[in-house]
Amino acid sequence: MRIAVVGSGYVGLVAGACFADLGHEVVLVDNDQKKLAALNAGDVPIHENFLPELLARHRGSRLRFSDDLQHAVHASSAIFIAVGTPPTEQGEADLSYVESVARGIAGAVDSYKVVVEKSTVPVYTCDWVRRIILRNGAQADNFDVASNPEFLREGTGVTDFLYPDRIVIGADSERCAAVLREVYAPMADGTYYAGPESIPRPDRAQLPPPLITTSAKSAELIKHASNAFLAMKISFINAVASICESVGANVQQVCQGIGTDSRIGRRFLNPGIGYGGSCFPKDLMAFRAVARECGYDFRLLDEVISINENQRQRFIRKVRSALWTLRGKKLGVLGLAFKGGTDDIRESPAIELVQLLLQEGCRICAYDPAAHSRAGEVLGSSVQLVENAYAAARGADALLILTEWEEFTSLDLTRLRSELRYPIVVDGRNLFDPDVMAANGFTYYSVGRPAVTPEPLAPAAFAPADQKNGRL
Ligand code: UDX
Ligand code: UDX
Repeated sequence: MRIAVVGSGYVGLVAGACFADLGHEVVLVDNDQKKLAALNAGDVPIHENFLPELLARHRGSRLRFSDDLQHAVHASSAIFIAVGTPPTEQGEADLSYVESVARGIAGAVDSYKVVVEKSTVPVYTCDWVRRIILRNGAQADNFDVASNPEFLREGTGVTDFLYPDRIVIGADSERCAAVLREVYAPMADGTYYAGPESIPRPDRAQLPPPLITTSAKSAELIKHASNAFLAMKISFINAVASICESVGANVQQVCQGIGTDSRIGRRFLNPGIGYGGSCFPKDLMAFRAVARECGYDFRLLDEVISINENQRQRFIRKVRSALWTLRGKKLGVLGLAFKGGTDDIRESPAIELVQLLLQEGCRICAYDPAAHSRAGEVLGSSVQLVENAYAAARGADALLILTEWEEFTSLDLTRLRSELRYPIVVDGRNLFDPDVMAANGFTYYSVGRPAVTPEPLAPAAFAPADQKNGRL
């Protein structure tokens, strides 16, 4: 099939590359000339597993980049809209990019086309996109508008796309649904997975993925409701973690106890400094705004958001309880991305915490495996960005872990300890086993688990590392 994807950001670029891998002819349209030039030159602008391989495989053949929306629409039978939908000041989704793309599409609808919402949008957007396309001159029987939400997590977007838990097709006519079924046919009939070059199957993948056909409005709601539910799970466990801290219980054990109930499930039950990223915060606010507009006061979402915001404050209090005063303290920070496996810092709880700690007068030396360039744009010279975790820890009063990067779990703890001025770690992501940290001489604070002090409890262990090494 010939497919156009409008918007080559995190979602559009991954979707376009995956459609090409399924065997379709794809044109990715973007109005950012710099981005197009970079993509044409072979750059991979975002940090995503398998994306470099897919772009190298299809760039210039099945995958092309263009700024010519009209031409792309003219040549395609399905047009996916994947432009950004940032929040307005009131928390609603700003749909002006979607509207302007819909206007642009209208003039080129000269034969039957399916226009598909891929961006996360509130319920009723399909109706509006349809109205805008009609207002701008397209014939009603020449197009349909569908919703085909994505459930991609950043970092694992390619595997999430090709091995999804489900494919949701929100279409209001059979003609329209048939076009979308054809797009996903190589996945739904399993032929893609049998190919020698298919991207490797992740552990949990159910093959072939189920295809769920719904109305367009239901599909729009599925996306918002899924993200809201996942965010609710995270806030729920963060609230439970706070109770664990008050009573001296261990949230990890609680998670195991409740997560093994298959009705609840263990995933997305990791407590921490709260969720961030370009989706959950924005989608929760947008869903709440849509609910309000529809006459439903979705107060549960207010609480999910408020628990999430409170996690940052709780973490600052934890740092304070570890260090007493903050002004002038030197802190090592591991992780700036909003989660592990990505270079994205949008709505990153780590960046927010770094900014709060800077306001408190701390000096910060930080390391992230992928997000330095984006973090540097936001933090400027206020934070020293260093080349590895040990350099971040060097001479610091405490080390803070703010992003769940897998590589942090294999750090050499003896070396880390020797780099720190004081062997204190405040872990906002529960990456380490408290007993292991205590055995390695750390005072270790985490989320929802009792703080531990070095074993055996030797006062000397609290002396500055430099002093012990005889360097002072
Ligand atoms: C996406 C979805 O669109 C959003 O709804 C979802 O919640 C998160 O993921 P994302 O891919 O992260 O957004 O957006 P971004 O990285 O900002 O990419 C959007 C792209 O669209 C950019 O490359 C931008 O240049 C392009 N664009 C934007 C256009 O081509 N035309 C426009 O009119 C506006
Ligand atoms: C999310 C959804 O998972 C995806 O389906 C949707 O399409 C886009 O939004 P993403 O934002 O990439 O994906 O990241 P995700 O892995 O969901 O994590 C979001 C945030 O929640 C991160 O800040 C992460 O650190 C945090 N998180 C996640 C937790 O704090 N605990 C968890 O158990 C899981």
